[in-house]
Amino acid sequence: MRRLLQEETLQEDNLSMKHHTWGVFYIIGGLVLCLVLLIIIFAFRKSIRTTQLGKCVKREDSCKAAKDYFSGKLQTISYFSFRTLKEASKNFDECNLLGEGGFGPVYLGKLQDGRLVAIKKLSLEKSQQGEEEFLAEVRMITSIQHKNLLRLLGCCSEGPQRVLVYEYMKNRSLDLIIYGKSNQYLNWNMRFQIILGIARGLQYLHEESHLRIVHRDIKASNILLDGNFHPRIGDFGLARFFPENQAYLSATLAGTLGYTAPEYAIRGELSEKADIYSFGVLVLEIISCRKNTDLTLPSEMQYLPEYAWKLYERSKLIDLIDSRMQKDGFSVKDVMKTIHMALLCLQSHPNIRPAMSEIVAMLTWKVEMVKSPLKPTFLHHRQQPKGEVSRETISDSFPSTLETESPSLTQPPNSRDFDVDENIV
Ligand SMILES: Nc1ncnc2c1ncn2[C@@H]1O[C@H](COP(=O)(O)OP(=O)(O)OP(=O)(O)O)[C@@H](O)[C@H]1O
Ligand SMILES: [Mg+2]
Repeated sequence: MRRLLQEETLQEDNLSMKHHTWGVFYIIGGLVLCLVLLIIIFAFRKSIRTTQLGKCVKREDSCKAAKDYFSGKLQTISYFSFRTLKEASKNFDECNLLGEGGFGPVYLGKLQDGRLVAIKKLSLEKSQQGEEEFLAEVRMITSIQHKNLLRLLGCCSEGPQRVLVYEYMKNRSLDLIIYGKSNQYLNWNMRFQIILGIARGLQYLHEESHLRIVHRDIKASNILLDGNFHPRIGDFGLARFFPENQAYLSATLAGTLGYTAPEYAIRGELSEKADIYSFGVLVLEIISCRKNTDLTLPSEMQYLPEYAWKLYERSKLIDLIDSRMQKDGFSVKDVMKTIHMALLCLQSHPNIRPAMSEIVAMLTWKVEMVKSPLKPTFLHHRQQPKGEVSRETISDSFPSTLETESPSLTQPPNSRDFDVDENIV
C-alpha cells in the first residue's frame, strides 16, 4: 500500500515537472519569436521606406501619364544610401568633381551596375529642410518628365546629408563648349537642335506639366548634352529645396546676372517671362559662341544683348554669328529668324515677350514671325560704389509686370547692383 502511494506521488511529481518544463519552453519560445520579428522589422525598415517612396512616385506618374504628351519613359525613383554614393564617387574624390554651383558640388559616380551618374550634394547651410519635406520635393521633381529635362534618378537623405542623383550626360554642359573650355565644335544644325530642345523643355515646364514651374536659372551651364548633343535642362525645381529668401541666384559672376530679366533683377517680379528673357540671352550665346558678358572685348561688344541690338539697328546681324560656322555653311534665313526670335525674348516689357509655345511654333515655321522687336532694356553689373542709384530710381525706368500673372514674387539678392541703360544706341 505504502509502495503504491509512493509511486503515485512520484508520478504526480513527474507530471508537474513536465508541465513546468513546457511552460518555460513556451515562454522562451515566445521571447525568441518576438526577438526574431523585431530583427526582421528593423532590417527591413529602410527597404519599406524605399518601397513607399517608389509607390508614391509611381502613383503620381500613372495619373499624369495620359496627359503628358511629350513625356519620356516613366520611371521610379531610387533611394540611395550615403555609403553607396560615397563608394560610387570614390569617397567624393576631387578627380570625380564635375563642377560646383550655388547648390553644392557635383561628382561623377559609377554605380555597382555600371551606370554613370551625376551626384549633387546639396550644400547644408542653404538647405534646411526636414526629411519628409525633402522627399516630397524629390517626388515632385521626379514626376516632371520630358525628353528635354534632365532625369532625377534618385536621392539620399541621411542625417544632415541631402543628395540628388541625376543621369550622367556624356557631353557635360553647354557652357564648356560655347565658352571654349572644351574643343568641341557645333555646326548650325546641332546648335538649332539644341535651341529647339531647350525651347521644348521650357514649354513643357511652363505650359504642359501638371505643375507650373519657372526655372529661374536658365543659363549655359544648366543645359546638359547627351551623347548625341541632345539638350536636357538641368536644375529645374531646385529652388524648392531652399528657403524662399535664400533662393539661389549667383552673385559671383556677371554671367549669371547677364541672363536675368530686368523686372526680376530689380523688382523681384518672377514669372515664366523671366525664363524667356534668359532663353533669349542663351540663344544669342549659342549663335555667337561667346559669354553674354565679356569685359575683355572692345567696349561696344562687351554685353551681348546690347551688341546684338546695335547690329540689328545697323542691319549687320550677320556679324554676330560664330565665324567658324561659315565653313560648314548654314541657312542665313534660319539663323536670322532665330536671332530675331531671341530679340523678341529680350523685350523690356514681359507681356510682349512671346510665350514658349509661340517660340516653338516660330522655330518650327508653324507661324510667321510678324512682330519687330523694340529696343530692350539693358542691365549692367554695377561697377561704381554701391548706393549711388536707389532701387526706386532704377525701377521707374522700365514697365512693371504687375498686370501679368506671377506665380510667386520673390526679391532676389543684389537687386541694387545693377545699372539700367536704355539710352545706348
Ligand atoms: N547630369 C550631369 N551630367 C554631366 N555633368 C553634369 C551634370 N550635372 C552637372 N554637371 C556638371 O557639373 C557642373 C556643375 O553643375 P552645377 O549645376 O552644380 O553648377 P552650375 O550649373 O554651374 O551652377 P548652378 O548651381 O547655378 O546651376 C556643370 O557645369 C556641369 O558641367
Ligand atoms: Mg546647374
